[in-house]
Order: sequence, then C-alpha cells, then structure tokens
Amino acid sequence: MTSKIALVTGGTRGIGAGICAALQAAGYTVAANYATNHEAAQAFSKDTGIPVYSWDVADYRSCQEGVERVIKDLGDISVLVNNAGITRDMMFHKMPPEAWSAVIGTNLTSCYNMCSLIYPAMRERGHGRIVNISSVNAQLGQLGQVNYSAAKAGIIGLTRALAFEGAAKGVLVNAIAPGYINTDMVAVIPDAVKQKIIAQIPVGHLGEVSDVARAVLFLVSDDNQFLTGTTINVNGGQNRV
Ligand code: CAA
Repeated sequence: MTSKIALVTGGTRGIGAGICAALQAAGYTVAANYATNHEAAQAFSKDTGIPVYSWDVADYRSCQEGVERVIKDLGDISVLVNNAGITRDMMFHKMPPEAWSAVIGTNLTSCYNMCSLIYPAMRERGHGRIVNISSVNAQLGQLGQVNYSAAKAGIIGLTRALAFEGAAKGVLVNAIAPGYINTDMVAVIPDAVKQKIIAQIPVGHLGEVSDVARAVLFLVSDDNQFLTGTTINVNGGQNRV
C-alpha cells in the first residue's frame, strides 16, 4: 500500500487551492507550498487544516529545504503537483530580461527543482504521480505572454521526457493545460481584453478551479494506470491551433 501524501506548489490560492481541496476530500494528506503571501496562506490553512510551507520554487536550495520539511512532517511524497506560476504580461518589444527570467524561473525551472528532489525517491519506491500545470497559452500563444507561453510549453516537453523515463518505474507524469479559469490571475487582465478573451472560449465562460482539480484527481488516482506523458486540455473548447 503506497502512501497518499500530496504536495502542491502554489497551493494556497487559485487553481492550487482548488487542487489541494480536491485531494484532501479524496483522502490524501496534503501539504501546500506558497511563496510570500503569508496572510492568504494562513487563511487557507485555517479554513482547510492543510499545513502550508513557504519557499521559493525557483530556487533549488529553498526547494531542498522545503521538501525536507514536508517529508519530516508528513512522510514520503507520493503525489507532486507543480502548479506554482506567475505572469509578467507585456508586449515582447517591452519585455526586459527580468520579466523573462522571473517567469521561466517560477513556472519552468521550478518543475525541474521539485521533480529533481522528489522523482528519484518515487522511482526507487516504484510508484509516484506527478502532474505539471501548463496552460492553453503554451499551445496557442498569447499577446503579451512570450515568457509565459515559452515556460508553459517547456513544461509539456519536460512532462513527456520525464514520463518516458518514469514509465518503467511506476512513476506517471502528466500535464494539464488549463484555459482561462476564474482566478486572481485572470481577474487582473484589463476588462476590455478579458471580454475579447471570453468571446474566444467556445463554452462562453471562464472555467472554475474545480474543473482543473477534477482532472488532477483522476491523473493521480489508482484509476489512472496507463496515462502518462500526456497533456489534458481543460479549456472550454479553446483547442484551435
Ligand atoms: N486578446 C485579444 N486582444 C488583445 C489581447 C488578447 N489576449 N491582449 C491584448 N489585446 C489587444 C488590446 O485589446 C489592444 O487592442 P486595441 O489596440 O484594439 O485596443 C491591443 O491588443 C494592445 O493591448 P493594450 O492596449 O492592453 O496594450 P498594453 O501594452 O497596455 O498591455 C498587455 C498589453 C499587458 C498584453 C495587456 O493587453 C494584457 O494584459 N493582455 C492580456 C494577456 C493575457 O491574456 N494574459 C493571460 C493571463 S491569465 C493566464 O496566464 C492563465 C492562463 O494560463 C490562461
């Protein structure tokens, strides 16, 4: 019997919080990582009873310390959800190196950091589930998101390659590419732009965090024995390329 201990990065707000709640409801012991918003994290922890851990997922050493703390408190991690992500949206001709590095660091290097610290033990135990949160904009591109689209597309490649390696060792690695979900990240898009975006979603509205959480739950559950290296699009039909 494998442990049911799940770690979700960026787990205290938005899609991550929805994923934590769904995993908890399904009987997992959950740890939620977050970056710096202590107030939101404490409120989340008070509401859910889920322990919260602050570290910077873009920084390898911080990840190492954070993962050690989680394992010491809860035990071996059997489910990793790489969800932490930021935007620094701006047109490419105005994008400074800092806006590139910040997004690549938090959204893509974070996946290397966390997988590199957790995947080897999963491999040794012969069981593990990793879900990486990509984006519809990895597939479609988006105005103002050269950095974000590149990072989220990188996640799809990382997922495929790591899934290839993990397959024979019982570690299934998948990605989810959410479309526009009703979160703070989407709330800050200028209203006129947001209306144009919603008009492009075939179902005609934003998704909810529970739409993404349900897909995560399936991928990490024992119901999934054969899906690996794939990307599930949870995007209201925004599949045109
Ligand atoms: N869709 C359609 N049109 C868009 C657009 C979009 N996503 N983004 C910008 N435009 C249009 C604007 O409406 C504007 O058109 P007009 O000249 O006809 O008025 C033109 O492009 C220039 O845009 P701005 O005037 O807004 O230019 P700016 O320099 O002030 O800002 C911007 C540019 C920062 C890219 C801003 O438009 C913006 O924030 N756009 C949204 C980008 C976006 O979609 N981000 C996704 C965030 S959510 C997320 O990332 C989660 C996920 O995975 C899906």
